[in-house]
Amino acid sequence: MLLYSHEPYRPRVVVGMGTCGIAAGAGEVMQALVDQGQARSLDWDLTYTSCLGMCHAEVNVEITLPDGPKIIYGNVKAKDVPALVEKHVLAGQPVMELAVAQEGPPQRLVPGIPHLSELPFFAKQSRGVLRRCGRINPDSIEEYLATDGYLALEKAIAELEPEDVIAEVKRSGLRGRGGGGFPTGMKWEFTRRAQGDKKYIVCNADEGDPGAFMDRSVLEGDPHAVLEGMIIAGYAIGADEGYIYVRAEYPLAVKRLRRAIAQAEEWGFLGENILGSGFNFVVHIKEVAGAFVCGEETALLASIEGERGMPRVRPPFPANKGLWGKPTNINNVETYANVPHLILMGGLNFASVGTPKSKGTKVFAITGKVKRTGLAEVPMGISMREIIFDIAGGIQNDKQFKAVQIGGPSGGCLPTDLLDLAVDYDSLIQAGAMMGSGGLVVMDETTCMVDVARFFLNFTTKESCGKCTPCREGTKRMLEILTRICQGQGRPEDIPTLERLAKVVKATALCGLGQTAPNPVLTTLRYFRHEYEAHVQEKRCPAQACTAFFIYAIDPQKCDGCTRCLRNCPSGAITGKVKEVHRIDPEKCTHCGTCVEKCRRGAIIKVDRIPSASLLKEGA
Ligand SMILES: Cc1cc2nc3c(=O)[nH]c(=O)nc-3n(C[C@H](O)[C@H](O)[C@H](O)COP(=O)(O)O)c2cc1C
Ligand code: SF4
Ligand code: SF4
Ligand code: SF4
Ligand code: FES
Repeated sequence: MLLYSHEPYRPRVVVGMGTCGIAAGAGEVMQALVDQGQARSLDWDLTYTSCLGMCHAEVNVEITLPDGPKIIYGNVKAKDVPALVEKHVLAGQPVMELAVAQEGPPQRLVPGIPHLSELPFFAKQSRGVLRRCGRINPDSIEEYLATDGYLALEKAIAELEPEDVIAEVKRSGLRGRGGGGFPTGMKWEFTRRAQGDKKYIVCNADEGDPGAFMDRSVLEGDPHAVLEGMIIAGYAIGADEGYIYVRAEYPLAVKRLRRAIAQAEEWGFLGENILGSGFNFVVHIKEVAGAFVCGEETALLASIEGERGMPRVRPPFPANKGLWGKPTNINNVETYANVPHLILMGGLNFASVGTPKSKGTKVFAITGKVKRTGLAEVPMGISMREIIFDIAGGIQNDKQFKAVQIGGPSGGCLPTDLLDLAVDYDSLIQAGAMMGSGGLVVMDETTCMVDVARFFLNFTTKESCGKCTPCREGTKRMLEILTRICQGQGRPEDIPTLERLAKVVKATALCGLGQTAPNPVLTTLRYFRHEYEAHVQEKRCPAQACTAFFIYAIDPQKCDGCTRCLRNCPSGAITGKVKEVHRIDPEKCTHCGTCVEKCRRGAIIKVDRIPSASLLKEGA
């Protein structure tokens, strides 16, 4: 891991100001620090970085004193700022309650605070793409340059012919990080060899998977690395113009990209005659409304051209006939961000990490029912178990792991049995899922897998562009069946019909959206078929998540008549007197769950609506 260390001659305070940090209150923390600095006339460097990836511990603030270690604080609130300034900045005493980690030379470390690399969240990570994220000021080209920025471009232009760059990328084994995993070097070679007086480089920053935020974090945290990767690709392919296709929902990423482009132009890394080589390259940002289907490469190109974002039949592939009919190379944000360090370390070194067919590292956005949500970059081939249990700390609230959804709506749900599966492109495809762009949603025992399939199908049905019949009609029909099953109206023929439909849509849809939309259905049918059967045949949701199948009831053994549930029920469904056991009227209850949260005695329980369980008689 690259450690960007300042040796400050005065206190240095850095606030994590990615979108995530700002959402957690980093703006208020920064303002409180500015106020403290002014009130106390502090001579310090107060600056910001982006996101270190510890979603579970935002807001992050780092304080480094001259001769001291860098102390990283987590979960900082504006109210904590006076103590941080008074105790740490002014008196040199770290605030132990908020300190989560530290970095620095061994002789400077403070006892009682773990080193950042020892934190379970970081210990198994291997940071290449994220090496500057949360460590440098993303708006400062100087900090990028101080951490080997643009050295790879200099090396490529000064020492390598375009073909040598492509050979290096091929040697690295880098595969596209946007979902499909196509070998990047091969794609560059196709585009270089394609006939055309004009060629384009496109960066796909659409990031439409629900729950995914890898690309946003890279763009916000290290925009120059993405630009540098694109410029090197332009040099290798013979393109002089690039587009970054990014959704307007990412305003901070767009702002930082615009600034980075202006800086790179000023420093001569973009524009005409780059580094005196005669090579010209410009980059435009295409800010768009954001639609899942527009992440598909041919729909994306149509959208840049001003057409409706609908996929086109391939071949011809963009490498031969892309933007405005010209040869075009499209890669994902993370793919480009891998290029500069790949060129610097050499393809073979890059390929020394990972599995035989999946090289390097992959960034994952870990969300769902884990203790430590966040952004983690891991070597390919790591097991799902290591990501979920070692890095993310396992399941919250002592619940059982049930499944992990990898690859977003195009991916699949993998069960406990596959926790030891190596995370690489090919193993995941074999298991019926896919790497996707890096979204990982972890689910616990309270999640209904039929409902999860319904959720993703609902998403893909809405996002389907409607151009081809299998996807337009097939996703709708599948969604109808799943909805029916979740509402307790499943019919015996539904499961085989669903399975057949899913296979047909997968085999016949025009683009990747339709071809992968059935994956959540097929994997849940493959690994959790018993849940479908319980819904249809027994009219029971084993996870007690689908509201059609259960009612809330009050356990008379536990209820002490405190009235909290009654007072908070928005539907007037609860009756009872003080110090007497309360009752819920299932006809009035809307399953909002408020009473469960409010009851301090855990007296409100779920009971199967169909009295297969004897509990019903006891509880209701
Ligand atoms: C429905 C759909 C959505 C996609 N969304 C994205 C996306 O948001 N970002 C991305 O990089 N690739 C996305 N892709 C994959 C792209 O079509 C394309 O393969 C990718 O940008 C190529 O870059 P790579 O080789 O670096 O992965 C999507 C594909 C499909 C079918
Ligand atoms: S598969 Fe779906 S999203 Fe793709 S072209 Fe067909 S209708 Fe459109
Ligand atoms: S789940 Fe909501 S509506 Fe039902 S009884 Fe509890 S608070 Fe009332
Ligand atoms: S909140 Fe719990 S303990 Fe209190 S009356 Fe309701 S069910 Fe009984
Ligand atoms: S902490 Fe930044 S994305 Fe989670």
